[in-house]
Amino acid sequence: MAATTDTEREGRWVVKASQGSRDAINPVRGFEENLFKDALKARRTDIEFIKLSIGDTTALPVHPAVPEAVKKVLELGGCTGYGHSRGLPETRAALARLYSPFTLDPRGLTAEDVIMTNACSGALETCLTVLTEPGQNILVPSPGFGLYSCLAGSRGIKCHFYRLQADRGWEADLADLERQIDSETAAIIVNNPSNPCGSSYSKQHLLDILAIAERHRLPIIADEIYAWMTFPGSEFHMLSSLSETVPILSCSSLSKRYMVAGWRMGWIIVHDRQNAFRDEVIPGLARLATKVLGPSTLVQAAIPDIISKVPEDYHQKNLSLFHRNALHIMEILGPAPGLFPVMPRAAMYHMVVIEMKHFPEFQSDVEFTKALVIEQSVFCLPSPAFNTKDCFRIVLGCAESKIQEACNRIAAFAKLHYKE
Ligand SMILES: Cc1ncc(COP(=O)(O)O)c(C=O)c1O
Repeated sequence: MAATTDTEREGRWVVKASQGSRDAINPVRGFEENLFKDALKARRTDIEFIKLSIGDTTALPVHPAVPEAVKKVLELGGCTGYGHSRGLPETRAALARLYSPFTLDPRGLTAEDVIMTNACSGALETCLTVLTEPGQNILVPSPGFGLYSCLAGSRGIKCHFYRLQADRGWEADLADLERQIDSETAAIIVNNPSNPCGSSYSKQHLLDILAIAERHRLPIIADEIYAWMTFPGSEFHMLSSLSETVPILSCSSLSKRYMVAGWRMGWIIVHDRQNAFRDEVIPGLARLATKVLGPSTLVQAAIPDIISKVPEDYHQKNLSLFHRNALHIMEILGPAPGLFPVMPRAAMYHMVVIEMKHFPEFQSDVEFTKALVIEQSVFCLPSPAFNTKDCFRIVLGCAESKIQEACNRIAAFAKLHYKE
């Protein structure tokens, strides 16, 4: 028998995975798909299971103009081939028109400033890839959307978490944010309106964040997937509409505003008033776009119709449901012992702070929310999904009667386990 060479191996097949794949840990998906498996198996089954864990958009109706737009593309028989790697020119031009009122750049925006991506997740990944080197760090909000640490981890980038303050409408602690910056910081992620907090920042607060970015010459990745999704009486400001200098990559998608998360259609809008991105970042984004040649051209081609034909009252109807659900949560959980729901102003989420010292049976909010699943058949996501502690998130996208029923059960659970 021939001797085994260096490259020959024997025995059971074991193929190694990369470090990047080992560090691609999405805490939201971890809780949703794995870590609650036992609790979900052990849950009470004599009452309806109420799932308020994931911002799933299928609970809400899609406006008929949205599938109509895709049908039209199909009927025209087009879009079966590859598109431009950065996206279809007409689609990018339509998005440039949509976002043009929100830039201070007198040149406005053109199709050249838009890159189509695989949903907002793909947009965020592309932005991180173009702006960071392994070993560097990015500033990430806490509480914040769990995907940021997953994307950073898989690229060998560290997250420096800056604190958001529950008692100040989840505004960033600006001193803490600035303290997190060091010589290896590559960018700041600002998520406004926020998942999981449901906050929408004032103009002044955004100007304060921009001033820090300006002082340290740091670009901002603005996750604005919930743009315009504010509740009555609340303000929303697109970050790019407030700065003439800070380079901003704004990320968004069809997922939440049009309730078609499964279509995985997103984009990056490049705001580069001072040409800071011109020499390296813009060519880098263009090269990265050639890696996968953009998202589905079928859905891309439908975007001009989708954004022009879905009426504003469709969005307002959804937002009014989220708002009413948030008010139900305040009414029912506000008086519940040991729980402090923080009224959201936007998006589709409601955070509830837990005073853990009053629930000594549970070591953490993860144990608290697992017991809630088992005893009350209500599933909310605990705080590690958002890189924070002592709170849980309720998703607002469901029928009012369901939210009320869930809150009554959460309040009963809190009463039962609360200790002075
Ligand atoms: C703040 C935030 N950013 C990005 C995403 C990802 O969106 P998409 O489904 O378009 O990838 C989500 C989804 O929940 C989100 O809440």
